[in-house]
Amino acid sequence: MLKKLAGIKSAAIDELSSLSDLGELEAWRVRYLGKKSELTQILRGVASLPIDQRKVIGASANKVKVLFEHSYQEHKKSLKERAYQEMEAATGSKQIISTPGISSAEKFGSPDVSLPDVSLPDVSLPGRPIPLGRLHPTTQMVREICNIFIALGFQVVEGPEVEWDYYNFEALNIPPDHPAHDMFATFWIDTEPDQRPMLLRTHTSPMQIRVMEQTRPPVRVVVPGKVYRYEATDATHESMFYQIEGLAVDENITFSDLKGTLYEFAKRLFGEERRVRFRCDYFPFVEPGVEMAIDCMACGGSGCRLCSDTGWIEILGAGMVHPDVLRRVHYDPEVYTGFAFGLGVERIPMLRYGIDDIRLFYSNDLRFLSQF
Ligand code: FA5
Repeated sequence: MLKKLAGIKSAAIDELSSLSDLGELEAWRVRYLGKKSELTQILRGVASLPIDQRKVIGASANKVKVLFEHSYQEHKKSLKERAYQEMEAATGSKQIISTPGISSAEKFGSPDVSLPDVSLPDVSLPGRPIPLGRLHPTTQMVREICNIFIALGFQVVEGPEVEWDYYNFEALNIPPDHPAHDMFATFWIDTEPDQRPMLLRTHTSPMQIRVMEQTRPPVRVVVPGKVYRYEATDATHESMFYQIEGLAVDENITFSDLKGTLYEFAKRLFGEERRVRFRCDYFPFVEPGVEMAIDCMACGGSGCRLCSDTGWIEILGAGMVHPDVLRRVHYDPEVYTGFAFGLGVERIPMLRYGIDDIRLFYSNDLRFLSQF
């Protein structure tokens, strides 16, 4: 049996070295490694051999099998490489295409070049695109807006989204029984009865107080961040959205500084041609208070769903910092004055791109998000 194995081995290896194409190689594999091959028969019969022969024959036959498999793979590799080089030489190009059943010569449309029909990867195909992530449109907007204010001399700071009632309301002239409390429908955090009330901030204005508590004038900051309101959503209202707060406090700051800064901001962001409207508004922590609106980009000011048929979209509230607020943080209102503003971030890309529903921003629909 060992002799027989040696015979099979030398015949197979001799034959293999003379094979020059993949078809012949496949026939070789079937002949020497296939189910009906002599080697497979020997391996199958090992179990029925006497115990003393079983070990020796089994081990030798397995060795031959491993050798055949390895030699087969090596030869296949070298035949493929050779075919690849021949094609490269024939076509003068590295673009080798081979699909089973279609000869490469047919494919290249070159009847003069007869190439072996082998399966190779198609290196000429374009690569599979890797989906790239990108910044969320709100993040892009926050950065663009902050950059404008940085260029105007403001510093960017951030603050907590879970806030004390004191900073969100009280320090901003909104005591618990004040009717203005109702202006900000609030998500309250469960706290023990003896603890100070806590909430998800309803605006970024609490950071006015936190910043002034920690610094002395001159102050020029912008504060981007998420805010939360417990209210019904519609095309222009979300329950979680972004605001950017602005605060400037110094000697001799007047209402003209407020208007000049916000005009300049609107011009840089929306372009020279956009119209800006200031109207009186009420916020307990400023005096006087205003709202600033931009003419609607979707309808050009004639009225549409986006602007609730008014032609204008309010983007921010602003005003001169209330003297009581300044006093509360130990700034002397006789010496220092300031202006503050708070703008809704999502409203800006809505205006710019004519997006008619704010809810698209946070519904995680890639068809929407991948446009930015
Ligand atoms: C405030 O939040 C004040 N803190 C702004 C302020 C700051 C006034 C400093 C004076 C001085 P208001 O509630 O109007 O104001 O919101 C400001 C902006 O946030 C609005 O102009 C609007 O653009 C945006 N906004 C308000 N509610 C929503 C909402 N539910 N969804 C999306 N954006 C909103």
